[in-house]
Amino acid sequence: MRFDPSFIDKVRDANNIVDIISKYTQLKPAGSRHTGLCPFPDHNEKTPSFSVTEDKQLYYCFGCKKSGNIFHFVQALQGLSFVESIEFLANKAGIPIPKSEQERNPALQRMNDEKKSAYQLLQSAAQFYHNNLLKLPETHPAKQYCKKRNITPEMVKEFQLGFAPDSWDSLKSFLASRKISEKLGKMLGLLKLKRSGDGLYDQYRNRLMFPIVTQAEKHVGFGGRVLDDSLPKYINSSESIVFHKSKILYGLDQTSKYIRTKDYVIVVEGYMDLLALYSHGVQNVVATLGTALTPQHAKLISRYTSKVVLLFDGDKAGQAAAKKSLAILLEEKLLPRSVVLPDNMDPDDYINKNGVDSFKEQVAASEDLFFIVMNDLFKNYKGAATDKVYIMEELAPIMSSVKHKGLYELYMRELCDRLNVTEKWVLSMVSPSKKSNDSLSEPVQQQAPEPVVEESLMSLAKAPRHELYLINMALKNKDHFVEIIESDILKQISDQNLSKLFTTAEQLYRQRPEDFDKLTSLLVNKIDQPAYLTGHMREPLSIMDDSASKKLIEDCKIKVKKSYIKAQTQQRLSQLKQGSDMKEKLEQIMNIQKGKLDL
Ligand code: CTP
Ligand code: MN
Repeated sequence: MRFDPSFIDKVRDANNIVDIISKYTQLKPAGSRHTGLCPFPDHNEKTPSFSVTEDKQLYYCFGCKKSGNIFHFVQALQGLSFVESIEFLANKAGIPIPKSEQERNPALQRMNDEKKSAYQLLQSAAQFYHNNLLKLPETHPAKQYCKKRNITPEMVKEFQLGFAPDSWDSLKSFLASRKISEKLGKMLGLLKLKRSGDGLYDQYRNRLMFPIVTQAEKHVGFGGRVLDDSLPKYINSSESIVFHKSKILYGLDQTSKYIRTKDYVIVVEGYMDLLALYSHGVQNVVATLGTALTPQHAKLISRYTSKVVLLFDGDKAGQAAAKKSLAILLEEKLLPRSVVLPDNMDPDDYINKNGVDSFKEQVAASEDLFFIVMNDLFKNYKGAATDKVYIMEELAPIMSSVKHKGLYELYMRELCDRLNVTEKWVLSMVSPSKKSNDSLSEPVQQQAPEPVVEESLMSLAKAPRHELYLINMALKNKDHFVEIIESDILKQISDQNLSKLFTTAEQLYRQRPEDFDKLTSLLVNKIDQPAYLTGHMREPLSIMDDSASKKLIEDCKIKVKKSYIKAQTQQRLSQLKQGSDMKEKLEQIMNIQKGKLDL
């Protein structure tokens, strides 16, 4: 694990779950809880069933049953890994992230510091451009332009859109007033060196500004659009220590949660396309910055979903880009589909002209991209041998990139049918240097491992119900907890994982009895599904009074004990069968059975 537990605790302590969740949904205090509408996009609700317990730092939705602690929340909502969720919350709380061994290298450290300053500068600049846009009178051309392009004030806010004033030094002065380094501004492409070599000027002037933010909420660059037909239409940030066009998908910061819950992503080419779809409620979208998809883009997408619908422009360039993306997506085991919008319209044009329903129909009618590419190649096919070779030459690199076994077989079958050739012939055409067959015969897990190493999580799926009840009752309140750990029942818990968890709980509690409320939140990070330990937050356990609670705990203990006796007896009996010392084993069995008399 990249971080040690004490650091994770520090991050947990420094963030309040109520504050973090309040950014996503409005919470109101209700007794010992806060309640509100469920913030998860796959759970659209009208009456609040989402509840957050500040004492215990846990959330639970009575509607969709999602539950967990603050780390689960940001992982689920922002699509981050556990490690990323820790970094994200550490940054939020202003806690410096401990450096790993290699990061202690001074050169790397300098680069990381520089990156951090870059994020900050870009964020300040974004805020500066955004405030400029907000301040403008309605009659200003930038405001008029937004109106013309159907960019609502809500979208301006949501995507922090801005305006770079028509001036040579407005950003320059802003940075100076904040004592922010001009040199860094230049490195990031926001300031340019004057031709005279004497001083800097603003790169972005009189442009609508689109800040580019990663899914971990880091500002990495800008796109800036002119307000008329002058050229260049867009200026994007130049490559810098934080901006790598080939790795960035515009919009992912806002849309990753929708992509994950809808389980597919629509990929468009432009800023305006993304905004248009988003404002019409189609929110599972990302935009490349006008480039073809790269392998890094595909990897990024694969973290959220495997289903991809490409909506590239209907023009030649757009179609070429779609075709180029095919192999890249297949290489990452993604399932690419595509649709060509009519009349060379881009998604923004289309949705504004035909409305969202018609747009959704287009998406639903998207087709397998491999077949689109193949059909295109077959347009002039007459069955000649040379036609077959020509088609195979085009498709060979694509076939070698198909990493999904099932897809590969279907594509292969289709190809053989349509070309009327054998699979052997197709294989002979698929360049051997690409080693496609080798990679296919390897097990699926051969893909490069994720760089992030996560602690392996325990599963409680096999724990018996009464044992789960017992731990939930223990976590519900301190008196129960103490009573349960002080009885000798814990030694008799049958589920190995649950037993470990109880032991950890006991240790944590003994170290800091005053932190009892934090226990659940600590423990849920050790298991694969938080729901197993948040049972005490929902009915019937949550509303059980004291005497009912005591009764339940007693019943559970008896069940634990009975199962324990049964298991132990069986173990000795089987040892007996295998010829162990008869007298000793029988004695042991008698002793074990005596336990029953106490029940
Ligand atoms: N692009 C760019 N530089 C340009 C033109 C385009 O970086 N000179 C990128 C931008 O990211 C742009 C995308 O390519 O969003 C798609 O370009 P295009 O289709 O020409 O623009 P639209 O997104 O349709 O923008 P608009 O609707 O405002 O014309
Ligand atoms: Mn457009």
